[in-house]
Parts: sequence; structure tokens; C-alpha cells
Amino acid sequence: MTTGRAQGPGGSGLSAGPEWADVESVGPGRADVESAGAEWTDVESAGAGSTGGQPVTAGPGVKARTADTVIRSWCPADLEPTLAIFNQAVAQTTATWHWSPKTPDQWADYCQARLVAPYSFLVATRAGAVVGYAAVGPFRDRDGYKATAENAVYVAPDSHGQGVGGQLLAALIERSRSQGLHVLVAALDSTNEISAALHAKFGFHEVGRLRQIGQKFGRWLDLALWQLTLDDRPTPPSA
Ligand SMILES: CC(C)(COP(=O)(O)OP(=O)(O)OC[C@H]1O[C@@H](n2cnc3c(N)ncnc32)[C@H](O)[C@@H]1OP(=O)(O)O)[C@@H](O)C(=O)NCCC(=O)NCCS
Repeated sequence: MTTGRAQGPGGSGLSAGPEWADVESVGPGRADVESAGAEWTDVESAGAGSTGGQPVTAGPGVKARTADTVIRSWCPADLEPTLAIFNQAVAQTTATWHWSPKTPDQWADYCQARLVAPYSFLVATRAGAVVGYAAVGPFRDRDGYKATAENAVYVAPDSHGQGVGGQLLAALIERSRSQGLHVLVAALDSTNEISAALHAKFGFHEVGRLRQIGQKFGRWLDLALWQLTLDDRPTPPSA
């Protein structure tokens, strides 16, 4: 299985990464993933860009296999199902520290902003239905952070534990590397042990913790900052 440590292509700049394969990942449920790693095959590059709507996904170097999960770029038809996944987490979890659901307009803005390179917004589908998404967007709005992005992964509760989150994060890492990003940051509620395990599996390391900077459901929350460095460029590309 592809991991966060896998070497990918690109890495020379932020705005002109290699073309993306329009197919991507796939994989069956967790049990099959665990038992059939040898079945992964290389995906050929088939398209370009990160425009939504096309059946885009992984990239060169990402492994894929025929199965029942497809990873592709977000398109407008995904607005409602991805918003439903996010708003469920808003209402019932501390995975996100929003207290109120986002509106469709707010969500459209959020998604569209992540369809612009070097960022990405991927969805996972099974039998044509959206079961999860993963996105990278700006970490902080300063020029100096241009090679850093913050990622998020959300899977519908009835699809948890079936390998979807892992497939999404693997694809997101490969795409981010190919788009020229240097560092991914995951900002996790420190009690989110499942997300911590997911990120650790793909090479992220916890690099710091901010104590009691958040609150939700009447509790103070700590923010755990996890980092994955995507390449070993000694200096940033010229601006
Ligand atoms: C975190 C989340 C995305 C994981 O997605 P998932 O599809 O359930 O995860 P997968 O089945 O692909 O598992 C991938 C890895 O996650 C970890 N993981 C998943 N379920 C776990 C569990 N119940 N206990 C411990 N670790 C678990 C493991 O490291 C697992 O790798 P493994 O199968 O080799 O053990 C999903 O639980 C989710 O959407 N949670 C709510 C939103 C959230 O917390 N998002 C993260 C904030 S950015």
C-alpha cells in the first residue's frame, strides 16, 4: 500500500506540477486491502489538472487496483453529500471545532478554494455514492507558507473502518507532492486517536500541542499539530 513516505514525482515548483492521472485509487474494504496488497498495479497517467468534475485522482506513482472504491476530484454534484458528511461531524464530534453547520454556499466556497493548485479536494465513492472526502487547503494566509497546506479527511460514519480514509489520505499525499507542496499539516483534536493513528500510518509525526485553545460541548480542547514533509528539497523553489 502506498504510504506517506513513498517518493513521488514533481517537487520542483508550486504551480506547475506534473499532470495528474484521472484515475486513482481504489480498493475494497479493509479486509481485502490487508489481504491483497500484491494486487496493486500502477495507474497510468490519463489527464491533467485539478479541475473538479473529471474522474481525476491519484497521480503517477500512486498504486491502484480494481475494486469498489474510486477516488476522484470533487465536482459540484458532490456538494450535498460531502456537506452532509462534514455537518454530521460538526454536530456530533470534536473532529472539527465548528459549532454550527456550514451552509451550502459556505461549503461551495470551501470546496472550490481547494480545487486550485497546489491544493486538492478528493472524494471517495462506492457504487457511485460519496462515502468520504479529503482536502488540502491553505495553512496560513501568508506568502511564506505557500509550500505548506493543511489537510482534512472525513469518512461517512457507516463507512468507517473499511479502508476509505487510508485510501483518501494516500491519494491526497501523492497529489500534494506532485503539486509541489513541501509540508502537510494536520491539526487534530488531541483526543482524536483514530485520526492520529491514520496520520501516523502515513508518515505524519506529532510536532506540537497547543493546550486548551479550543472548546466544544462544554470542554476545553487541545490541538495536536501533525506534520508530513513531502520531499527533501534543501531550499524552496525560486518565487
Ligand atoms: C479518521 C477517519 C477519517 C478514518 O477513516 P477510516 O476510513 O475509518 O479509516 P481506515 O479504515 O482507512 O483506516 C486507516 C487507518 O486509520 C486508523 N484507524 C481506523 N479506524 C481505527 C480505529 N477504530 N481505531 C484505531 N485506529 C483506527 C488505523 O491506523 C488504520 O490503519 P490500519 O487499518 O492499518 O489499522 C474517520 O474515522 C473519520 O472520518 N472520522 C471522523 C472525522 C475525523 O476525525 N477526521 C479527521 C480530522 S482531519
